[in-house]
Amino acid sequence: MSTVYTFEEVQKHNTKDDLWMIINGKVYDVTKYIDEHPGGEEVLIDCGGVDATDPFDDIGHSEDAREALVDLLVGTVDPASLPAGSSSTESSGSSSATQGESNTGLIIAALLVLVSIGAYVFLNK
Ligand code: HEM
Repeated sequence: MSTVYTFEEVQKHNTKDDLWMIINGKVYDVTKYIDEHPGGEEVLIDCGGVDATDPFDDIGHSEDAREALVDLLVGTVDPASLPAGSSSTESSGSSSATQGESNTGLIIAALLVLVSIGAYVFLNK
C-alpha cells in the first residue's frame, strides 16, 4: 500500500461510481463506502477528488469511522502536488492566525468602550 498519487490523479476520481478523497495525506477509494456512510452519500460526493481532511475532522468522526478508513486506503498523495494551503500539508496554522486577528479586534473594541465610559464618567464629575 505504498502507491503515491499526484493530486491531479486523485481529482479525476470525483463521481459516485469512482470516488476518491484525501484525508491527512492518505488517498482513500470511498466508492464502495458511499451507501454505508451514516452521514449520507451527498457529503461524500461533495468531497470527491479533494482534500477532505478538514470536513472529516470538523464532524468529529469516531474511532469506528477512522477504522473504516483502513479498508479504503489505496495509497498516499505526493505532498508537492497538493495546492498551497491544503490541510494535508500545513495542519492548523492558517486558521489559528485568523482566530488571533479577530480576537485582537475584539480586545481593541472592548478597550475603546472602557476608555469612552471612563472619559464620560470623568467629564461628568
Ligand atoms: C471515507 C471517509 C469517511 C468515513 C469512513 C466516514 C464514516 C462515518 C461514520 C462511521 C459515521 C457515524 C458517526 C461516527 O461514527 O463518527 C459518520 C457520520 C457522518 N459523516 Fe462521515 N465518514 C467519512 C467521510 C466524511 C466526510 C468527508 C464528510 C464531510 C462532511 C462526512 C460527514 C459526516 C456526517 C455529516 C456524519 C453524520 C454525523 C451525525 O449524524 O452526527 N463524513 N461518518
